[in-house]
Amino acid sequence: MAVYEIKHPLVQHKLGLMREAEISTKRFRELATEVGCLLTYEATKDLPLETTAIESWAGPIEVEQIQGKKVTVVPILRAGLGMMDGVLQLVPSAKVSVVGLYRDEETLEPVPYFEKLVGKIEDRISLVIDPMLATGGSMVATIEMLKKAGCEEIKVLVLVAAPEGIKRVTDAYPEIDIYVASVDRCLDENGYILPGLGDAGDKIFGTK
Ligand code: URA
Repeated sequence: MAVYEIKHPLVQHKLGLMREAEISTKRFRELATEVGCLLTYEATKDLPLETTAIESWAGPIEVEQIQGKKVTVVPILRAGLGMMDGVLQLVPSAKVSVVGLYRDEETLEPVPYFEKLVGKIEDRISLVIDPMLATGGSMVATIEMLKKAGCEEIKVLVLVAAPEGIKRVTDAYPEIDIYVASVDRCLDENGYILPGLGDAGDKIFGTK
């Protein structure tokens, strides 16, 4: 397991723009897509390649192609949808497996209410996307669902994480890699990440 905090200047610049209090819905959405795309670039850097023969304009040559397992992107409803286009820009043939969870008011634990996973998920690498890794409850529940369905290779892509959320995921699933634009300071008493982005779902969907 590793936590990869992506310090690339483009990622840091775009994330900084997302932190502006008065950012428009349009701009926030665009930036969530762009940072999602850049995180995908990092998260796919170890996909195995194989050599294949093709007929090029200059005659027969060998080229590299991604081999083996294909990808499924797993947005956690609803805010995860805001990063999905960015992932699909780089992996356009990826299948989408959607997961939704609500928080039980008594136990405060996430309860799945929607799960539509791609068939034969055991043959795919899951890229789970959610802009905010706060307490980590939804992420752990999503990973649980994917594991139960047979998926063995799972990577987590988030824009901002709290140390508490990272700890919860890595305690439960030490083998899983997390790609994050910024590990922020802490959670506040309402479960918001500080300084964070505020309510990422509201900002992506323009709701309040
Ligand atoms: N969800 C959000 O949208 N923002 C946070 O800071 C934490 C959880």
